[in-house]
Amino acid sequence: MTIVEQPPAIAARGLSVGYGEVVCVQDLTLEVRRGEIVALLGANGAGKTTTLLGLAGVLPPRSGSVEIGGSVVTSPTHARARAGLAFVTQERCVFMGLSVRDNLRVGGCDPDTALDYFPELKPHLKRTVGLLSGGQQQMLAVARAIARRPAVLLADELSLGLAPMLVDRIFEVLTAACRADGMAVLLVEQQINKAMLIADRCAVLRRGRLVVVDGAAAMRGRMSEVRDLYL
Ligand SMILES: Nc1ncnc2c1ncn2[C@@H]1O[C@H](COP(=O)(O)OP(=O)(O)O)[C@@H](O)[C@H]1O
Ligand SMILES: [Mg+2]
Repeated sequence: MTIVEQPPAIAARGLSVGYGEVVCVQDLTLEVRRGEIVALLGANGAGKTTTLLGLAGVLPPRSGSVEIGGSVVTSPTHARARAGLAFVTQERCVFMGLSVRDNLRVGGCDPDTALDYFPELKPHLKRTVGLLSGGQQQMLAVARAIARRPAVLLADELSLGLAPMLVDRIFEVLTAACRADGMAVLLVEQQINKAMLIADRCAVLRRGRLVVVDGAAAMRGRMSEVRDLYL
């Protein structure tokens, strides 16, 4: 019997990306499979955000390619969104001047599905998002992204400025969406310990190059090495 392996939900193959003349991420090869969470770690300036921008099609590849569902994609970001790619950027992806309800509508997502993921947003549907707490805004950003049941979620530093409890809550929902719906998650995170707890695998970038890729459990046993990579 032959077992036909499914292609990864998203993959970078020898991907190099940068800004103007400067190449900031070099020859990166990484896959995320359906139902898998991969934590992308590394010090400030290591190239984590640049990697996500390359995968999302915001920055064009200098060399190498991006595959979604096994096919090479060269389309712009909005077309990749239609192909099942969701991206929560480092800047919270919500419209501050609109209500929670309107944010959900604008996103083209079904508000009920979004609220199933984060019922704590229900009492705030009519409130202007700019008046919500940072944690509520981030929950909304994540709810909007995953309510469309994307095949792939790229998430950039979701925990930034949030209380630990809220980070746990957001990670809990991400994990559930990943396990239940098979969503593939590439999670860029500064809170390494929390990221390692929900990740299946970890990849560490240093100065634009991937230096370690390992299972999260194995990685927890290599913490001093990981710490060195941050210096
Ligand atoms: N818009 C930009 N123009 C030029 N260089 C940039 C830009 N954004 C980031 N860089 C550079 O690219 C490198 C990687 O940055 P980035 O991907 O943002 O790192 P990280 O997300 O890991 O902190 C850094 O050296 C940074 O200075
Ligand atoms: Mg960044």
